[in-house]
Amino acid sequence: MTDLNLDLLGCKLRNPVIIASSPLTEDLKGIIECFNNGASAVITKSISKINKGNPSEARRAYFDKEGLWATSTYFRETLDLDSGCDIIASASSKIDIPIIASITGLDFEVEKWIGSCEKVILAGAKMIQLDLFYLPQPITNSTNLNKLKRLIKDLSQLIQVPIIPKINIEIPAYLIKELFSESNIKCISFLDSIRVPSPITKNLQSRYKMVRHLGMSSLFGSWQLPLTNHYAIILRKTTDYQLIGGGGISNSCDILTLLMLGVNATQIASTIIINGFGYISTLIKNLEEDLIEEGFTSIHEIQNKITKSQTIDIEQSHTVFIESYAIIDQKRCSKCKKCITLSFCRAIIEMNGVITINSEICEGCGLCVSCCNENAIFVIERD
Ligand SMILES: Cc1cc2nc3c(=O)[nH]c(=O)nc-3n(C[C@H](O)[C@H](O)[C@H](O)COP(=O)(O)O)c2cc1C
Ligand code: SF4
Ligand code: SF4
Repeated sequence: MTDLNLDLLGCKLRNPVIIASSPLTEDLKGIIECFNNGASAVITKSISKINKGNPSEARRAYFDKEGLWATSTYFRETLDLDSGCDIIASASSKIDIPIIASITGLDFEVEKWIGSCEKVILAGAKMIQLDLFYLPQPITNSTNLNKLKRLIKDLSQLIQVPIIPKINIEIPAYLIKELFSESNIKCISFLDSIRVPSPITKNLQSRYKMVRHLGMSSLFGSWQLPLTNHYAIILRKTTDYQLIGGGGISNSCDILTLLMLGVNATQIASTIIINGFGYISTLIKNLEEDLIEEGFTSIHEIQNKITKSQTIDIEQSHTVFIESYAIIDQKRCSKCKKCITLSFCRAIIEMNGVITINSEICEGCGLCVSCCNENAIFVIERD
């Protein structure tokens, strides 16, 4: 038996899978689906006081090999305060996992945020995530950075429940310690999507009769995971905050990696949007198995290990190489020659119609293994 329980800001969570602020959590039905499928907490879709609801706004979304793209507007992507509070109140009466309210705004004035925070607490929110995505850019110029510092400091002192700023890559990881040093915050969540130009060369119009012109989009996807891992390493090394890490998670190994890098819990959205609510329970079941495979009996055990060693010191640890070389299983090789075209390698040659590897010059880098669709190449240890 593995024990997935953990503590987050004084709340007991049944596992580290928190559903991120997203379309999954923008109505009561979605929140209940998250709960029924085993999520340990939900972060509501961001709630905005200035959103009075505008039904003409729409969201456009699609996914391709680069990830999930969404083109939308502030009004479409935020819940108005009354609807947000109704959803929180109904969800709190029906399910017994923490509801974290995500609050957002368009500027740094604390008065514009505080009223929304107080109202969602009355509705039943146990914590508040501050969605900083829509604040004036660039967020890291000195004027904006000082205003942000002030906003977080004031809110953390005025609000009765824990507040959790949500970081995107526009705020570099190494700035965070200094940025929140004067505030009372105890937890950070990361990473939000990135805002990027939509792929303008793609003729979407021929397939999707839904946009005339694509401007900026938000991009989500597994490409983000290395950045998320990087933030986890820097934040664990430089701060004592509890960390809710996510962005690019697509399977249980990704969750375990983040836990081993020092996050306390994870937040997940797009892989569940694409695979369905049932994928939440798959992730949790697979995570239990992964823990056993890695020799852990509980999440606490991982966290104790990290606390003791401060962090698994990836940067200081060095890779240990095994002397090896690649071989081709001729029975599997279809002679597609994909491996020969690798400009990385001179060791793969064709001789008398057979694709072979010169073991004398092969250094066993493994690149050809990953390019072979027939799984015909193996790297083995040198005697
Ligand atoms: C369509 C869509 C809408 C989202 N809306 C919000 C939002 O309102 N507030 C917020 O903080 N994050 C929002 N997110 C970002 C997610 O919470 C999460 O940070 C991001 O998707 C990265 O995680 P993932 O790789 O698991 O999707 C949204 C994500 C998607 C896909
Ligand atoms: S990529 Fe694989 S299948 Fe194709 S030639 Fe090389 S070993 Fe054979
Ligand atoms: S393992 Fe690397 S060096 Fe060896 S054949 Fe494959 S690509 Fe070349």
